[in-house]
Amino acid sequence: MAHFDENAKPFSNKWLDERIGLNTLMRVLNTEYWIPKDINFLWAMGMVLAATFGILLVSGIFLLMYYKPDVATAFDSVNYTIMSEVGYGWLWRHIHGVGASIVFLIIYIHMFTGIYYGSYKKGRELIWLSGMGLFVAFSAEAFSGYMLPWGQMSYWAGMVITELFAGGSLEAVGLVEWIRGDYVPGDAYLTRFFMLHVLLIPLVIIGLIVLHFGTLRLPHVNNQEGADIDYEESAALWKAGNRKESKVIPFSPVFLSKDLFVMGVYFILFFYLVFYHFNFAMDPVNFDPADGLSTPAHIYPEWYFLWSYEILRPFSKDIGLIAFAFAQVVFFLLPFLDRSPNVAPAHKRGLFQIWFWVLLVDMIILTAMGKLPPTDPTFAFVGLVSAVLFLLMWPILIVITMFEKKIEKGA
Ligand code: HEM
Repeated sequence: MAHFDENAKPFSNKWLDERIGLNTLMRVLNTEYWIPKDINFLWAMGMVLAATFGILLVSGIFLLMYYKPDVATAFDSVNYTIMSEVGYGWLWRHIHGVGASIVFLIIYIHMFTGIYYGSYKKGRELIWLSGMGLFVAFSAEAFSGYMLPWGQMSYWAGMVITELFAGGSLEAVGLVEWIRGDYVPGDAYLTRFFMLHVLLIPLVIIGLIVLHFGTLRLPHVNNQEGADIDYEESAALWKAGNRKESKVIPFSPVFLSKDLFVMGVYFILFFYLVFYHFNFAMDPVNFDPADGLSTPAHIYPEWYFLWSYEILRPFSKDIGLIAFAFAQVVFFLLPFLDRSPNVAPAHKRGLFQIWFWVLLVDMIILTAMGKLPPTDPTFAFVGLVSAVLFLLMWPILIVITMFEKKIEKGA
């Protein structure tokens, strides 16, 4: 048994250190965990995401105290009980709704930062893959949560998305019914999506966050120039007081203070949205109760799914489904499709820079087109061209990065 100091006051620094190794943790964070100096505010997005997930968990727990997962009571429990009867129920709902929408904006910024700086390349593939796992898990979490208020959009989006599992001409009708637990979304459907939303998917997300942090530990985060830093040398320089020459800073308190600053700015914007512009995160059609006999004129998903929805829509049933499935998995393959080992920012990678911006703008156009009804032929055409371009971007990436690799070898 380890030695415990009899005189240490309960919960004093010494008392805690003897029980949970507080000083060891502080020593690791202050002097053994190093972060590159050459990074910008975009590297704070990971912690912003972790904090937003925390807010979603806490607000979700408060909502769970009054929500009723039953087709007869779900809509009223959200729109009447939580919004009007429970003290500050509206606030928790707005925090949860805005958080669910904003988390995707931050995820996309975080993903595209990784793409811009090549942070998925050799040594960092597992960071990327676990990150993509988080993207899929968050998508499933958002979709299952969208079912819970049991409004018109919950019902009809649920109908359309589960229908995709019929596999077009494969007509796997039994599979769709198995997923729904009925012929159409109903009570069994709502209860199982409730279970997924409040238990299974959050557990998977927590596991994936632990994995994501674990995969960061050895390769370390990338930096703005993609420099391969000698951590031992730089840490020694820092410890010797030569802070100018050192390429790294300790995680705590130096890097942490920067992270907390960015988080502070983010939360000011976040709560501004919660109090003054929460409507953007709430679809007006979903304020009508679910009605299986009245299809809304225009069914569309939340903004963060629109780009992939627009890849499904312009093609015939089967091709659309294949294109959609491709769009769901292709980002996973990025570390293997990019053939160039060059870990440099996009603006130093010639053709890759053009590729990066074309992909980003194309996805923004797809998002805009996905929101519009498919009736206008001009917009439908723009949607088709953008979807085809998205699919072509990946073989193009292979070619330009092979070319990049060749040039580097020759240089
Ligand atoms: C939603 C939950 C997520 C959380 C909590 C999270 C958290 C973090 C944190 C704390 C970092 C280190 C600091 C930073 O670079 O920001 C990081 C890095 C990274 N994340 Fe995530 N992340 C999430 C999702 C994703 C997604 C969806 C991707 C994309 C596939 C991704 C890819 C990466 C990459 C490539 C890095 C390394 C960046 C570098 O080396 O510079 N992450 N993540």
